[in-house]
Amino acid sequence: MSDWTAGYVADIGYTYGYYKELNPLRIRLALLNAGIEPPKQSTACELGFGQGLSAAIHAAASDTQWFGNDFLPSQAAFAQSLAEAAGVPAEFTDESFAEFLARDDLPKFDFICLHGIWTWVSEENRQLIMAFIRKNLKVGGVVYVSYNTQVGWAQIMPLRRLMVQHTQRMGAPGEGTAQRIRQALQFADQVIKTNPLHATANAQVSPKLQELLSQDPHYLAHEYFNRDWQPMDFADMADYMAVSKLEYASSASYLDLIEAINLSPDQQTLLAQIGDVALRENTRDFCVDKKFRKDYWVRGARNLNPVQVIESLRAERVVMTKPRGVISLVLEGALGVADLAADVYDPILDFLADYQPHSLGEIEQALSSHEKIGLQEIVQAMFIFTHRGEIQAAQSDQATEKAQAACTRLNQHLMMRSQGSDEVYFLASPVTGGGIEVTRFQQLFLLAYQQGHTQAEALASLVWSILESQGEGVSKYGQILQTPEENLAELTERAQDFLRRDLPMFQGLKLI
Ligand SMILES: C[S@@+](CC[C@H](N)C(=O)[O-])C[C@H]1O[C@@H](n2cnc3c(N)ncnc32)[C@H](O)[C@@H]1O
Repeated sequence: MSDWTAGYVADIGYTYGYYKELNPLRIRLALLNAGIEPPKQSTACELGFGQGLSAAIHAAASDTQWFGNDFLPSQAAFAQSLAEAAGVPAEFTDESFAEFLARDDLPKFDFICLHGIWTWVSEENRQLIMAFIRKNLKVGGVVYVSYNTQVGWAQIMPLRRLMVQHTQRMGAPGEGTAQRIRQALQFADQVIKTNPLHATANAQVSPKLQELLSQDPHYLAHEYFNRDWQPMDFADMADYMAVSKLEYASSASYLDLIEAINLSPDQQTLLAQIGDVALRENTRDFCVDKKFRKDYWVRGARNLNPVQVIESLRAERVVMTKPRGVISLVLEGALGVADLAADVYDPILDFLADYQPHSLGEIEQALSSHEKIGLQEIVQAMFIFTHRGEIQAAQSDQATEKAQAACTRLNQHLMMRSQGSDEVYFLASPVTGGGIEVTRFQQLFLLAYQQGHTQAEALASLVWSILESQGEGVSKYGQILQTPEENLAELTERAQDFLRRDLPMFQGLKLI
C-alpha cells in the first residue's frame, strides 16, 4: 500500500450512499428547536465525500456553492462527473485533508460536514480536520459530524482487531483487500464456532459477525478494515470541538430529540439533573447503548427568544417524500416499539399527502379544529417523519425554480446510468434541495414515462428490453425470474404501483 493512504484502505471504492443529514436545509429545524438561529447558506463543504453523491446532489439542488475533498482519485472523479452532468460550479478535489487544509483560496463556509470519517482516520488526520474547521468555518457556521461511539462498540472492538490482524498477517502479497476481508471473516466465523468465552461474555459479538458475513465487501473495507478505527465518546468529541470554539447545538438524529420513546421516566429525571452537557450526553448514550452519533455543532450560537423561535418554526416549509400509503404510525425508539396516536399524526400526514411544500404555520392553521394538534405536535411529527425520510424540509419556491434545471440534468444523467447499474438509487429534488430515494426500476420507469409511455404494460416492456439486452432478470423473493412472461408480469405490477403510488410524489418533488 502506498504512503499517501495513511493506513486507509485505498484499493477498493466505497458505496454510493446519499445522506440526508448533509443537506444544509435540514439543519434549520434542529437549531430552531434548540433556540439557535440557523446560518444563511451560501457556501458549504464536505470532507471525505466518498463517491460524492450527497455533495453533488446538494450542489445541484440548491444555490449553495459546494466544495469537498476525498483523496481516492476514482471517487473524486465520480463526484466531478456528477457536478459536470448537473452543470454546477462545485469544486470536488482528490486532495488529502492535509492538502485541503493548506489551500488559501477556499472561501469561508457556512456549513462543513463529514460523515463516516472522524473515527475511521488517524489522530493526525483528526487534528488536520479540526485545523480545517478552525480556519474555514464562518462565525455562526455549523459543523455536522457523525462517529462511532465507544459505549456502543465496546464489545465488538476485539472482534474487529482480530479480523484486521488476520488481513495484515495472513493475507498473501498481491492479494486484494476484498479477498483478504473474505478470509478474515471466515477466520472469525471459525473462531466463533469454537464457542470462545469472549463471545459468551459479550452477547453482541456473534450476531455482529453474522451481520458482517452478509455485507458488501466495499462497505466492510471502509467501515472496519482501516488501520485506524477509534470509536470515542461524546466528551472526547466535545474536547476536540472546544479547541475550534464550537459548541454542541443538537443531535442530527431527530428521533433522539423525543425523550419518551428513548428514555425511561427514571432516566429522563436523572439526565435532567446533569448540568454538564458532555456528562449528560455520555450518560444518555450509556442509557440507550448508542452506537453511532450524528451531531450539529455551532461556532458562536446566536440565540433566539421564544417568540422568534415560534415565528421561525411556523415559517419552516416541509414536503412529503415517501408515498402516503407506506408511512406507518409504528415508531421504534431505544425503549422498543410504540404506536403513534392516529388522531394526531394521521391528519398531519393526510394534509401533506398532496406532495406540495407547506409551512408548519399553514399545517397548524389548516388543522386548528383538531384539539390535540398544535405547533408542538406538528414539530414533533416533523422530527419523527423527517428522521425516517418520509418528510423533508423544503426550500422556497424561488430557490426551487433556480435549482430545477441542474436537478433535471443530473437526474437525466443518473437515470440513463441506471440502465446498466443499480449502484445509485437517489435523484435530486429542487424542492427539498436534496436527494430522494428512487430505486433502479423507478428510475427506468421515469425514463420511459418521460418518453411518453403512460401505460403500465408499455413501461414494463421498455424496462424488460433493457434488462433482457444485458442478460438480467427481475429478482423476486431472492430468486431471479427466468422467463420473459414472468419478468413482464412482475414488471407490469411494479409499473402499476409506480404510476398510481410513486409518480404523483416524484412529480410533486420535481424530479423530472
Ligand atoms: C467510510 S468512508 C465515508 C465516505 C463518505 N463520507 C460516505 O459516508 O459515504 C471514508 C472516506 O474518507 C476518505 N479519506 C480517508 N482518509 C482521507 C484523507 N486523509 N484525506 C481525504 N480523504 C480521506 C476515504 O477515501 C473514504 O472515501
